[in-house]
Amino acid sequence: MSDGRIDLPLLPPHHPLGRAAVTCEYRCGNACSHEAPNTSDNEYFGDVVRSMVSRRGMLKAGAVLGIAGAGVAATGGVAAAHRGPGGHRPPRGLDFAPVAPNTEDRIVAPAGYRTDVVIRWGDPVLPGAPAFDFDNQTPESAAAQFGFNNDFCGLVPLRRDQWLMVSNHEYSSEPFMFKGYSASAPTEEQVRIAWANHGMSVVVVERDRRSGALKAKVDRHYNRRITATSEFEVSGPVAGHDLLKTTADPSGRKVLGTLNNCAGGVTPWGTILSGEENFNQYFANGNKVTDPVVKARLARYGLVGGASGRKWENFDDRFDLSKEPNEANRFGWIVEIDPYEPDAKPVKHTALGRFKHEGANVHVARDGRVVAYMGDDERFDYIYKFVSKERVRPGNSRWARAHNKKLLTEGTLYVAKFTGDSPAAEIDGSGKLPADGQFDGVGHWIPLASGRKSFVEGMSAEEVYTFTRLAADKVGATKMDRPEDVEANPRDGRVYAALTNNTDRGKPGKEGPTEINPRNGNRHGHVLEWEEHRGDNTATTFRWRLLLVCGDPAASDTYFGGYDKSQVSPISCPDNLAFDKHGNLWISTDGNALGSNDGIFATATTGRERGHLKQFLTVPNGAEACGPVIEEDFVLVSVQHPGEIDGASADNPASHWPDGGATQPRPSVAVVWKPGRAIGS
Ligand code: FEO
Ligand code: CA
Ligand code: CA
Repeated sequence: MSDGRIDLPLLPPHHPLGRAAVTCEYRCGNACSHEAPNTSDNEYFGDVVRSMVSRRGMLKAGAVLGIAGAGVAATGGVAAAHRGPGGHRPPRGLDFAPVAPNTEDRIVAPAGYRTDVVIRWGDPVLPGAPAFDFDNQTPESAAAQFGFNNDFCGLVPLRRDQWLMVSNHEYSSEPFMFKGYSASAPTEEQVRIAWANHGMSVVVVERDRRSGALKAKVDRHYNRRITATSEFEVSGPVAGHDLLKTTADPSGRKVLGTLNNCAGGVTPWGTILSGEENFNQYFANGNKVTDPVVKARLARYGLVGGASGRKWENFDDRFDLSKEPNEANRFGWIVEIDPYEPDAKPVKHTALGRFKHEGANVHVARDGRVVAYMGDDERFDYIYKFVSKERVRPGNSRWARAHNKKLLTEGTLYVAKFTGDSPAAEIDGSGKLPADGQFDGVGHWIPLASGRKSFVEGMSAEEVYTFTRLAADKVGATKMDRPEDVEANPRDGRVYAALTNNTDRGKPGKEGPTEINPRNGNRHGHVLEWEEHRGDNTATTFRWRLLLVCGDPAASDTYFGGYDKSQVSPISCPDNLAFDKHGNLWISTDGNALGSNDGIFATATTGRERGHLKQFLTVPNGAEACGPVIEEDFVLVSVQHPGEIDGASADNPASHWPDGGATQPRPSVAVVWKPGRAIGS
C-alpha cells in the first residue's frame, strides 16, 4: 500500500523480539536469554534529582520545539504520503513516498530511487587480495578482503567524487560463513578466518559521475584492514595500569585487536570512533575465577560463562579468563582510527569508560570542548557522556589534527540520571500518556571521574574507567531500555538516543515502568530527545522528552511526537541514528518485531512535521539496517547479516542477496540515490 501502512503482523514471530535466535547467539552471545547483568538496586526516579535540578533557566520544550500537527485535520490517501496534515509541503530533504513494510529479499527504496552494492563481504580491500571464493576461504585472504557483518559505516571526503569509507565488522556468524560448520568443534582455520573477518575496513569509494553509483576501489595508499589481531595503542588514564597487563603485554599499552565493533561516529577532525560492544561473548571460563572482587567485576560484564560460543580459547589462551583474567579488561572501549593516516596506529580510549559501547558521537560545544555521547547497549544499562578538558583546534593542519586526536584522552566522564515530571501513578506501564500529554522531565549528569580523579566512593579513577558499569550503579544512574546510538543534532545541539527495546521491564524482580522507559515488556523501543541547559552541551542538567514511542501506529501505546498517527510508518527497535544536512533525524532498526524486514526511517525534529515518520527503505530478509550515512545526494546503508534467520545456514540459505540466484547471502554496504536529484527532493 502506498501510504506505508499494512495490517500487522505479516509473519509469525520467531523470537520474543523480531531478532532471529541465531543472530542473538552469534551477535551478542545470547545477551537477552541471560539475566541482565545489572542487578544493582540503585533508585531510578528520585526526588533527589528533582531537588537538585532547578526548573528555572532550563529550556522549556515548547519554546524551542515547533508544535506538531496534532489537532490539524489529516488528509488521507496517496497524496498524504508526501504531505503532512493540512497538505503542507514536506520539510527539505524528506520529500519521498514512504516504503511499505515488507519481507522482500532486496532493498526496497521509494519510487524513483536506485540501489546498488558498494562493497560486499569478501570483496578485495588490499592490493593483491584474491576474489572472494566462498568454498576456499583462508585467514590470509580474509585479512585482505572486506570483513563479515559490517555494521557502522562512516564516510569522510577525500577528493572530488571520492570518499574514505570506514566499516565496522561486528561479528562472525560461522554457520553462515562455512558449510557444515560444527559449533562444538570449529577448526583452527575457521577460527583464524573469523579473527580476520572481525575489526574494521577502510576503503576508498568513488562515484561514477554519469550513473551516480558508488563503488569501492582497491587503493594502495588508503585501503586498510584492522582485524582481531591488529595492534592497538591504549590511551588515557588506564594506559599502562596493572588492570590492563597480560602475559603477552606486560606494558598494558598494546592490545591485539578490536571485537564486536557495533556503531560509531565520525569526529569533526575526520577520524572514526567505533564501539566495542558485546565483547564478553569471546571470553571463556569466567566461571573458574574465584577471587570475589574479580568475580563481581566479571559478572557485571556478563563474563561468567564456561566455554565460549566460538571456542577461540582452544587456539589462543588470551580468550581464557582462567589463564588471562585481564585480557577482557582490554575490550569494551571506544576505539579511534584515522582513515587519512594509514600508518597511524588505532587507539583505544580509556577515558571514555568501559562498557558494552554501542558507539560514540562527538559534538563540539560552544566553548570548543568536545562532548562524546554514548550508550551501553544492555537491558537496564546507562547513557553516558564525556566532556574533554581541551578545546578543539580548527583547521586541518597536521598540528591541529594531532591536537584534536588527543581530545578524547582526558576529560570528565558522566552518567545520566533522568526524572519524570508526571506523578508516578500516571506511568502505569501501558504506554498511556500521562495527563500532561508527554513522557518528559529533567535530568542531570553525574560525574564519575575526571582525569585521574574519581568521584565514586571506594573506586579509584582507573577502576571507574575500567569497571564503569559498577561505578554508575553506585551513583544511582537511570536504568534504560538498551541505549544504542546517542547523537547530537549538528543543527541545534539537541541530543537523541535510540532505546531499542527491553522485554524484561516490569517482569517480576525487574524494574517497572518509569516516565523515561514507560512501557512494561517494551518490545518496540523508543527515541529520546533532550536539550542541555541553555543549549550548552557541556552542561550538567537538561530537559528531556520522548520523541517516539515505537510500534504499530494503530496501537494505543505508540506516540510519534504528537503527529497524526494515521500518517506515519510503523517502526520497531530503533538502533542507529543519523542526521542529514537539514537536521532531519534518520533512524535504522534492528529486529523489527512487527513482522516486516528492518529499515531506515526519517522525520523532521522541529516544525509542523515533527514526528511525521516515514520509512525510506527496507533491507533484505534476515538483515539489519545499520550505520546509515545520509549525504546530500546518496544514502549508504550497511546491510548486516542478510539471511540470518533461524533454521537457515550456509547449507540452507534464506537470502540470496545481493547476488541473486542460488548464491550465499553476503553482508554489504549498499547505496541508494535518485539520479540527478538530492535525497528527499
Ligand atoms: Fe550491535 Fe547495540 O547493537
Ligand atoms: Ca510528563
Ligand atoms: Ca546497533
